[in-house]
Amino acid sequence: MNQHIPHEGKDKLLEPIIIPSTATKRALYKQSLKEIQMRIKDVDSLVSRMATIVSVLRSNLSYYFWCGFYFAEEKELIIGPYQGSTACAHISYDGVCGTAAKNKKTLIVPNVHDFPGHIACDERSNSEIVVPFIGEQNMVIAVLDIDSTVFSAFDEVDKECLEQLIIPVLREGS
Ligand code: SME
Repeated sequence: MNQHIPHEGKDKLLEPIIIPSTATKRALYKQSLKEIQMRIKDVDSLVSRMATIVSVLRSNLSYYFWCGFYFAEEKELIIGPYQGSTACAHISYDGVCGTAAKNKKTLIVPNVHDFPGHIACDERSNSEIVVPFIGEQNMVIAVLDIDSTVFSAFDEVDKECLEQLIIPVLREGS
């Protein structure tokens, strides 16, 4: 079992990470959506769509440290496509991802160290947002999990853009 063992940070981040203004965040998400749509037109595979989403988002949004999907299975969450340091392959429903999945609601955590049950796959993460992907019959299929090394990196703009612009891409074409 490897999922609760945080690993030491090797590559220290050299430049300070700036959290963009509200307007810049919105512009970056809109630009990312255009790029994702261009890259996945005619792509029906859910996993391919997820892989493209996490790659484009992490490239365009510099305050993202880690970005990926976990599939919601019956007893635990299983890793899907992601970008960033090697993540826990399976995690319990007690952490941030599991809580968002159980409640079927986006969860913003300004300081992960204050969240009871938080699962530290990489100790460099300090804040987190988790957005559920809900399919037919109101079932949670997966969650989109994003971590930042910056405290309070995510806000209502990330929530709105991820829920309204990015997650719907997973439903298109499939
Ligand atoms: N922090 C998450 C685990 C996944 S990693 O952040 C990649 C959680 O508490 O569920």
